Amino acid sequence: MERLSSSAKFMIVSDLDHTMVDHHDPENMSLLRFNALWESSYRHDSLLVFSTGRSPTLYKQLRKEKPMLTPDITIMSVGTEITYGNSMVPDGGWEEVLNQKWDRNIVKEEASKFPELTLQSETEQRPHKVSFYVDKSKAQDVTKELSELLAQQGLDVKIIYSGGMDLDILPQGAGKGQALAYLLSKFKAEGKLPTNTLVCGDSGNDAELFSIPDVYGVMVSNAQEELLLWHAENAKDNPKIIHATERCASGIIQAIGHFGLGPNTSPRDEADLSGCKKENLSPSGEVVRFYLLHEKWRRGEIENSESYITTLEAVCQLPGVFVHPSGVEQSFRECISALKGNHGDQQGKQYRVWVDQVFPTKIGSDTWLVKFQKWEMHGEEQQSCLCSAVLVTKGADGLDGWTWLHLHQTWSLVAGAKDHLTWLL
Ligand code: GLC
Ligand code: MG
Repeated sequence: MERLSSSAKFMIVSDLDHTMVDHHDPENMSLLRFNALWESSYRHDSLLVFSTGRSPTLYKQLRKEKPMLTPDITIMSVGTEITYGNSMVPDGGWEEVLNQKWDRNIVKEEASKFPELTLQSETEQRPHKVSFYVDKSKAQDVTKELSELLAQQGLDVKIIYSGGMDLDILPQGAGKGQALAYLLSKFKAEGKLPTNTLVCGDSGNDAELFSIPDVYGVMVSNAQEELLLWHAENAKDNPKIIHATERCASGIIQAIGHFGLGPNTSPRDEADLSGCKKENLSPSGEVVRFYLLHEKWRRGEIENSESYITTLEAVCQLPGVFVHPSGVEQSFRECISALKGNHGDQQGKQYRVWVDQVFPTKIGSDTWLVKFQKWEMHGEEQQSCLCSAVLVTKGADGLDGWTWLHLHQTWSLVAGAKDHLTWLL
């Protein structure tokens, strides 16, 4: 990862389905709490790695459905595909490692002899992953017999059972754990091993993550039986692994606190967002809180009072302008009066705002340039824009808060303009 010039302070390697993303939480609260915490306290010096069983196709689909952050590294298809950055550049070296003793045609042919196996959709069949569904009661026997057959054919494979239904066949050197070990060895070679790493998972294909030496681990409260069983048999005396009492991303936040890995209060959990507590002083924290207020204003969760408007007017300085992604330039004064008229316009609706990839750079003794992506979710739809903001500290070290001098937005290519939605500030 070129982004950080030195070791990451912290690296999270998290599974997505039922770990980072809670499919039983229509409000996505735990994910949104995590997002606010990550962007306000960790993004600038830490690494976010998603490690999913999903293929690139299904991963991209999930990103369209859920309010997710953009990871620094994406590991897909059960550790068989590693990509870097926003443009998801594949790691060619890893693909070569996986070619050893692997032939997917032989795997498919041998597996077809088992009527218990049902092939998963075409999108989930990848160069180094062949995937099926199989009933829980048959999984163990099929795994054993199939491994023997494939070994006779000279292949060295790994068969993983997850979620009480998915059976993946991969090269022996693949898997989420091996992919992480490969990444760590790359970091080590560059002298950039992260200071702390936390792995997070809920099901069978995550088990390997917990056997990588020196990492902290959290099995979320809703972890599957197969992972808990693996833990009981293989890692129950490891004090660096916990079974959280909270679900999904809330379990990840819980683990950060339990192991003392850094700040663990999400700005979404703060009662008074405008308060100037010590930990609120960073420019990243200011951006996260500014947009949280914006969300709460439009959801009608904060009172329509003059005091909020006065605070906003104090935050947005007069000479400053806002360049709307459509290209229209407005004074902050005009934006604020538009916002006044939209108090509670999203009340009772599925409306959320979150910021992603918040990167602050100090450009003067009291001035910061903060680049970030702002996302809005309106029901099923998401849109985002790239933002550059110039922020000035009011007191020494931002002790008295911040002033926004300038804000420039551009529709992002990923999820751009949707004319029928109201996009303010
Ligand atoms: C994801 C993938 C699927 C895989 C499963 C377990 O659901 O889409 O192909 O079998 O994860 O690894
Ligand atoms: Mg999962």
